[in-house]
This record gives sequence, structure tokens and C-alpha cells, in this order.
Amino acid sequence: MKRTLGGINALYPTPTVIVGAIVAGKPNFITIAHIGIVNHAKPYLISISMAKAHYTNAGIKEHKEFSVNLPGEKLVVETDYVGMVSGKKVDKSTLFELSFGTLKNAPLINACPICMECRLYDTYDTPTHDLFIGEIVATHAEEAVLTDGKIDIAKARPILFDMNTVTYWSLGPAIGACWSIGKQLKK
Ligand SMILES: Cc1cc2nc3c(=O)[nH]c(=O)nc-3n(C[C@H](O)[C@H](O)[C@H](O)COP(=O)(O)O)c2cc1C
Repeated sequence: MKRTLGGINALYPTPTVIVGAIVAGKPNFITIAHIGIVNHAKPYLISISMAKAHYTNAGIKEHKEFSVNLPGEKLVVETDYVGMVSGKKVDKSTLFELSFGTLKNAPLINACPICMECRLYDTYDTPTHDLFIGEIVATHAEEAVLTDGKIDIAKARPILFDMNTVTYWSLGPAIGACWSIGKQLKK
């Protein structure tokens, strides 16, 4: 017998990312856990859901570019910090060493092993949030997190976010091969 919890979102954990944008001429960073995969074919689209009150939103709207940086577990303190203080009050522009790829308004965090440059594709407006949909223009990954040229999450060690416990979690072991383990039920 299940207890009904009302219409709460039960989709955790999600990966925790640091979104970067240029706001008022300076890089600014915001922690985002409400992210999604929109389109897994060209154009490759992802979504980030950002409360309208945040400082970063204006930079994304102005330049129509942003970065999505995936921190590893080692960066948990910095990841939490940029999710606690606002660029309205605190200058977060010097916290990380940065580089730029193709997009000049998508600051990439060197300490994050995986960084995606995104061009704003569309915005879905809700009363409280801007759901920014970004087209991934380029993805950059450290050799150290690759296996056979592909991103290996066991090496990247993403930071998983759970709103229920407001806690960061670590990735556990793999439990089966996709599009494969279910074959045993095929007649
Ligand atoms: C773990 C974590 C996840 C967060 N996820 C989101 C999110 O998905 N959407 C959102 O609007 N704010 C989220 N926040 C809050 C913002 O990161 C935070 O308010 C930030 O300080 C805003 O920065 P800014 O005002 O400089 O843009 C999260 C914070 C933390 C610590």
C-alpha cells in the first residue's frame, strides 16, 4: 500500500551542474539541479530550469549563450557555494579558472572535467521559472574521465542531488546493461 504524497516531484536524484553566463560584463555561476535532456539527436537540446529571481537569467537572455559545467565530487564545496550566494551581492567571477570555446559568452570552468557550450534555443516561460532550452554546440571532456573516447561516469564522479534530504550523493555501481538485461523476458 502506497502513501499519497500529493503532487510532489519525485524525480531525484539529478546531476548537479554549474551553469555559467556573462552577466553585466562578468562571468557568473549558478548551481542547477533541475536539468533535463530534451532531444538526443541533432539538434542536441538540454533544459535548465531557473527561478526568475536569479541574477544569471539576465545574462542568458542578453547573450543567448551559456555553459553547463559538470563538477566531479572533488568540487562539491564550490558547487554548493555558487548555489548559495547570488551574483547580485557577491562577485563569483574569480572563483574558478576559466576558458572559452566557440561561444564567447559561455564561460567554461577548468576544474570541471566536463563542460558544454550551449546556444539558447528557446525559453519556456512559467510564472516563476525560465526554462532555458540550450542547443549543445560543443562538449569538452578531460581525457581522465574518458574510456574508449566516451564519457565514463564512473570516472567523472558526478554530484547527485536529492531535494528530499537536501543532500549530495555519490554514484553507486552499475547494475545492468541497457537494451540488453531485459532481453531475458523476451519470449
Ligand atoms: C544543489 C543546488 C541546486 C540548485 N538547483 C537550482 C535549480 O535547479 N534551479 C534554480 O532556479 N535554482 C537552483 N539552485 C539555487 C541557485 O543556485 C542559487 O539561488 C544561486 O545562488 C543563484 O545565483 P545567481 O543569483 O548568482 O544567479 C540550486 C542551489 C543548490 C545549492
